[in-house]
Amino acid sequence: MNILIIGSGGREHAIAWAAARSEGVATVFVAPGNGGTALMGGKVCNVPIHATALDELLVFAHDNHIDLTVVGSEQPLELGIVDLFRNAGRQVIGPTMAAARLESSKAFSKEFMARHGIPTAGYKVFRDIHAAGSYIELPQTVYPQVIKASGLCAGKGVFIALDKKEALKAVKELFEDRIFGNAADEVVIEDFLFGQEASVFALTDGKDYRLFLPAQDHKRIGNGDTGKNTGGMGAYAPAPIVTLDVMQKVEERIIRPTLAGMAEDGYPYTGFLYVGLMIDNGEPYVVEYNARLGDPETQVVLPLLKSDFIRALQASVDGTLGEVPFEMHRKSATTVVIASGGYPDHYETGKTIAMDNEVFEMEDCMVFHAGTSYDSGKLTTAGGRVFSVTALSENLRDSIDRAYYAVEKIGFDGAYYRTDIGAKAL
Ligand code: AMP
Ligand code: GLY
Repeated sequence: MNILIIGSGGREHAIAWAAARSEGVATVFVAPGNGGTALMGGKVCNVPIHATALDELLVFAHDNHIDLTVVGSEQPLELGIVDLFRNAGRQVIGPTMAAARLESSKAFSKEFMARHGIPTAGYKVFRDIHAAGSYIELPQTVYPQVIKASGLCAGKGVFIALDKKEALKAVKELFEDRIFGNAADEVVIEDFLFGQEASVFALTDGKDYRLFLPAQDHKRIGNGDTGKNTGGMGAYAPAPIVTLDVMQKVEERIIRPTLAGMAEDGYPYTGFLYVGLMIDNGEPYVVEYNARLGDPETQVVLPLLKSDFIRALQASVDGTLGEVPFEMHRKSATTVVIASGGYPDHYETGKTIAMDNEVFEMEDCMVFHAGTSYDSGKLTTAGGRVFSVTALSENLRDSIDRAYYAVEKIGFDGAYYRTDIGAKAL
């Protein structure tokens, strides 16, 4: 089989890693990929086509006899890559443009959850600043309130307003200053949820689904969950906060009604479904859906999958998902993100990367690249999140220690990482 993976982050490096280990896979192309996928060698190679150049990707898939395309990132899904590929008779993993609105439109996803009785924070959708302002001023509006641009903002379009003043400032920035452009044509204002966050991922053919191990991301830049929101600074799995009882509730109250509701509404959901949860006293609520796997959660969740990844993906396309093995290693995994100094604000790129060969010899340790570039034999930084260093072990404590041991073997000017990934689960 020839596989095409679309995207360029740590998640896509991990997907390429899992694909290359799958049985019967001849070639893995990554478009556009990164320094890590460039260095994998063997059956893996990069293709210099941007993830949103859909027509070029389709031509490439035809010309190179691609059997299965795996969409890693959200932008091509929002642009309709799945519809385009399917209409051209090509097999692809992901939801259609209409189904991907579970992620690309928070207004759509909130209305969907309300319609189908899926537990989530109470909310209102606004299309102009005056209506939003009136709601913010209502005496019955209880703070904190969470104010969100409805469209895609790479995880950055969310404000937690502690009072009216902060709420008014946020809606001004969204509607008037247009800091997120058209992504804030609609704005969702919702009640604040208390509890602990976790991420659950399902692979689905629209009816059947299989679950990966639950993970926990670390979204803030600083230790102790302080500072700005980022794309994610590290993750671990399995997350003990998602007990068997919580997982059962997630399946009964969220995953099954979501798949049934999407089918009923005429947008059958296929591919990866990411459910971002808030768990309060053992009760799960949906914070957000994403139409893809998480980054950096994929970097812990995929190494813990024992069964053949591509075989499972192919089964989801064939409608035989219930018939293939989908087993997990009985281990824990931790991934630590190494970022460029200054991220998530301004940062510099082009820094030379030094790596001790010892990391390549460590068993059950994977250095997934995110923002790196490999050119003329030189590896340099090329993004905000640069690496996602994963280690597996029999227990969480040891997987954390091993991941940090490996992190210390990688260096570049300005490298920054949190030192408390996984600590809250210990
Ligand atoms: P989202 O892009 O909707 O996932 O929001 C980004 C982050 O903001 C989440 O991961 C949470 O940490 C926080 N957040 C979003 N919505 C809420 C909410 N209703 N209550 C508490 N925190 C929230
Ligand atoms: N780790 C958060 C996300 O992938 O959206």
